[in-house]
Amino acid sequence: MNRVYNFSAGPSMLPEEVLKQAQKELVVYGDTGMSVMEMSHRSKDFKDIIDEAESLLREIMNIPDNYKVLFLQGGASSQFAMVPLNLFRNSKKADYVNTGQWSRKAIAEAKRYGTVNIVASSEDSTFNYIPELDPNTFSKDADYFYITTNNTIYGTRYTEIPDTGDIPLVADMSSNILSEEYDVTKFGVIFAGAQKNMGPAGLTVVIIREDLIGHAMDITPTMFNYKTHADNGSMFNTPPTYSIYIAKLVFEWVKKMGGVSALEKINKEKASILYDFLDNSNFYKGTVVPKDRSLMNIPFVTNSKELDEKFVKEAAKKGLVNLKGHRTVGGMRASIYNAMPIEGVKALVEFMKEFEIENR
Ligand SMILES: Cc1ncc(COP(=O)(O)O)c(C=O)c1O
Repeated sequence: MNRVYNFSAGPSMLPEEVLKQAQKELVVYGDTGMSVMEMSHRSKDFKDIIDEAESLLREIMNIPDNYKVLFLQGGASSQFAMVPLNLFRNSKKADYVNTGQWSRKAIAEAKRYGTVNIVASSEDSTFNYIPELDPNTFSKDADYFYITTNNTIYGTRYTEIPDTGDIPLVADMSSNILSEEYDVTKFGVIFAGAQKNMGPAGLTVVIIREDLIGHAMDITPTMFNYKTHADNGSMFNTPPTYSIYIAKLVFEWVKKMGGVSALEKINKEKASILYDFLDNSNFYKGTVVPKDRSLMNIPFVTNSKELDEKFVKEAAKKGLVNLKGHRTVGGMRASIYNAMPIEGVKALVEFMKEFEIENR
């Protein structure tokens, strides 16, 4: 069977050349006589892999030396607890912006350990926009300020990063890391599950400013303390070795593509093909306020649930799969992460035109 265009929100498409490289090296990696999956995480060969992964990520994201890069497990969801456990150190207060289900989950977790001030929310309109932020409402003594840079389910993204002054800005970048350029120095902590733009599930990347490490609450479990992992080069216990290896291949691919800035350009082009089509259609409708539209996740609907269902089924028959919207919002959602080629987006638009003619 041929490969399909996979519009899944995550785990998602990986670059085909990464998969082929992994296939070539699957059984025997280099001159080791074994698969990466079979290697000791403490071996020199694996050390080279993780070191190279870190140095590539530092290069493509331009991560300064005073930040640690951690390769962890537990998914982005574990970060919802790790962030407050490690960053609540003085007032035990934090500001959160509520832009969807993932930030809501992060808020619920933080409330277990301290006080959460929700500075803004877009819940009043099914999270289809990013709320305006008024710095006057920010807590002066917050231990950190939390945002979700891209909201996977609703298809919104911040086009402007809030200026929080000396208060560390924490960002869940799970669904848009490496898709557009960010100035890492604006953040205290960036975290992301790997399974959208970096590699297979099982790996969570944390980028954290060094001065924020080492102040965890007493109740913090050892494995949830950033210091544990920072002091041990992400080798306190067995890290997700194979996922780290694939992430290294993805980082190499990003570099070969011209880096994050080149991918950002392609991503903008890909997204605008779909948004332009939606904006000119009387049959389909994009659900997000135009100024806050995501480059990665594009939700849209027809005017009937039955047609939406039919669309998803018929698209799949044409090799355009996983277009069903999140179970809580319905409709359709096209996730077009870095690895989705522009041809995939064009094929989707062609199918949308055909489907419209047949079902108008
Ligand atoms: C923005 C965002 N944050 C957090 C998560 C949760 O990630 P995980 O499944 O790795 O815990 C997701 C998953 O899709 C996500 O999109």
